[in-house]
Amino acid sequence: MKLGVLAAHAAHLPAELVQNPVSLGEGNTPLIKLTKLADANRVELEIWCKVEGANPTGSFKDRGMAVAVAAAKHNGSNTVVCASTGNTSASAAAYAATAGLVCVVLLPAGKVARGKLAQARIHGAKTYAIDGNFDDAMEIVKQFDDSMCAVVNSINPMRIQGQKTVAFEVIDQLGGAPDIHALPIGNAGNITAHWIGYCEAAGQQTAACGLCDQNCKFPVVTVSASRPRLLGVQASGAAPFIHGKPIANPETVATAIRIGNPQSWQFAQTALAESGGTVVAVSDAQLLAAQSQLASLEGIFCEPASAASVAGLIIQAQAGKIAPGSKVVCTLTGNGLKDPDAISGTEEIPVIAADHEQIRKLIA
Ligand code: F0G
Repeated sequence: MKLGVLAAHAAHLPAELVQNPVSLGEGNTPLIKLTKLADANRVELEIWCKVEGANPTGSFKDRGMAVAVAAAKHNGSNTVVCASTGNTSASAAAYAATAGLVCVVLLPAGKVARGKLAQARIHGAKTYAIDGNFDDAMEIVKQFDDSMCAVVNSINPMRIQGQKTVAFEVIDQLGGAPDIHALPIGNAGNITAHWIGYCEAAGQQTAACGLCDQNCKFPVVTVSASRPRLLGVQASGAAPFIHGKPIANPETVATAIRIGNPQSWQFAQTALAESGGTVVAVSDAQLLAAQSQLASLEGIFCEPASAASVAGLIIQAQAGKIAPGSKVVCTLTGNGLKDPDAISGTEEIPVIAADHEQIRKLIA
């Protein structure tokens, strides 16, 4: 049996939820070294990726959703609701199904990858496409009264609590914290969660804890004295952190991070500042190139938003902003299978005769 996050990290999560867990076996995802990708880009770094697409619904959201849905159930809610660019809705729908709760999802019409939409539907979520973007959907969801509907976006502190467990695993798998941890920023919950996890593991205080009083109740277990610098990566068409203010019409091929008004803005800024980290923007072409390299050189198929972490790292390294020899972890947040339409050329494979000899000639 594969332990979920509530069982695997019981000492760091609320006891009442550990006793009444919800789980699909999330967490404990692979950490893989990217040797060929580093060589191909001529960067002298030790690059690792944390493959969060290996979670049950194919994204990191499952860590947070296991805890948030367990809390909703424990608090007597019979419905969970979220706004989503796709992955949160897929995860909420699956965890609500296993917990026996109703799930309501609000999606930006026409801007959600097909696989994610299929997940929300097959798991039985009440799925609504709104005439607006993710930020508009988020404003609607924030008006729900928690006693009726538990909001399971990352403004729910339980989501952050679940997602912080990724840092504990990285420290375990790597034998300590990396020098740098790179990840994409969308609504900014995950970068906040990473930082809280690293701080908790290192026995250090963080003002990002302000997100959830609960954090401070947990015993601090010092597994590593160090904390990484955070490298947040945004798509250049959806980069409010680079502009220093929310933007009205975010646009990027990486629909998962097509967000102009991140809800955890302040906590993410705190995390970045405390870690001595920074934010960079990457173009759609750069993140798609990184996605392609991960797939063709390393055998790892992640979605476009996830590849932004690697693209951002390479840009920083090639600009001489990262010391050679640094140990870096990139979080690959979601599985590439969710978004087949982002891959060019898949729709137009020419048909040839079913003939062995002809194929032999073609591949020679
Ligand atoms: N990568 C992927 C694949 C995502 O789905 C998201 C967010 C992010 C990165 C950014 O994480 O929001 O914590 O900064 N997806 C949300 C959703 C918004 O609705 O699925 P974040």
